[in-house]
Amino acid sequence: MKIDLSSLGFRKTPFTRELAISDRFTLDYQRDAAEEIRRTVAQRMSATLVAPAGTGKTVTLRLLVSQLPEARYSVRYVKVTGLSKRDLCKEIARACGLEGAGSYPSLVCRLQEHFQDAAGTDGVRLVILLDEAHDLRPDSLAMLRLLTNFDMDSRLVLSLVLAGQPPLQRLLSRPAAEAVAQRMAHAATLRLLSRDETRAYMEHRCRVAGAPTTPFDAEAFEAIFEMSRGNLRAIDRLALKALEEAAKAKAQTVSPNEVLAARQHLWL
Ligand SMILES: Nc1ncnc2c1ncn2[C@@H]1O[C@H](COP(=O)(O)OP(=O)(O)O)[C@@H](O)[C@H]1O
Ligand SMILES: [Mg+2]
Repeated sequence: MKIDLSSLGFRKTPFTRELAISDRFTLDYQRDAAEEIRRTVAQRMSATLVAPAGTGKTVTLRLLVSQLPEARYSVRYVKVTGLSKRDLCKEIARACGLEGAGSYPSLVCRLQEHFQDAAGTDGVRLVILLDEAHDLRPDSLAMLRLLTNFDMDSRLVLSLVLAGQPPLQRLLSRPAAEAVAQRMAHAATLRLLSRDETRAYMEHRCRVAGAPTTPFDAEAFEAIFEMSRGNLRAIDRLALKALEEAAKAKAQTVSPNEVLAARQHLWL
């Protein structure tokens, strides 16, 4: 059930996933990661973005997309979900606006042709973002190798950005993944928020949700930082739940009591 937070000054629900990229909080390291990947892609190469769950990878990809001009880049986003190589191929085809029917080899051919055609037109760069890439199966990695293989590697037709949790690194370091791993010209990562960043982040998210003042008291900020260890998603979940606890109790501020109650309702 959604709890009304207007008594705390909010015009919309804060700390949700639905955040316009223009409303994001500026984190230098996230901006740098997006910029490093952008430069890699501009040089027609591929990159990885490896960081733990909830540290801002998907938002970094969205930031990257916002910085790739549509006139020069054709960007496709695919979320990997442990699919077979054929199903993943289908997903990529669908993301590229192609028919997903037919046998696996014919799909691979169709995609290769599509990429080659796209590369031939007006210098538009094709970029495929594979999010949750730690869920890639080994045979899917081999398929990616096929998709990016043109003219004996003499042409760089497609840039891949593989974003995923740390197991992605292990997946790429396997001998079978060597061919794909070799194509990754840049490895970007993200870190956890510091204490000061956590506070500034929470204040920002309250502000963009319409709250004129931030309802958390100093100890509540501290409690959220301690419990979340600066993980963005953990901060979001704790902060929203603590606000709901405060609203239910008709309190005007969030104290560590609400944060503790919030943790009891969450798997953290
Ligand atoms: N720069 C940012 N500004 C505001 N919120 C952010 C920012 N980066 C991440 N978030 C928030 O953190 C949450 C987790 O980020 P996300 O990109 O989904 O992490 P990951 O993909 O690494 O699991 C998102 O739902 C979003 O609300
Ligand atoms: Mg994500």
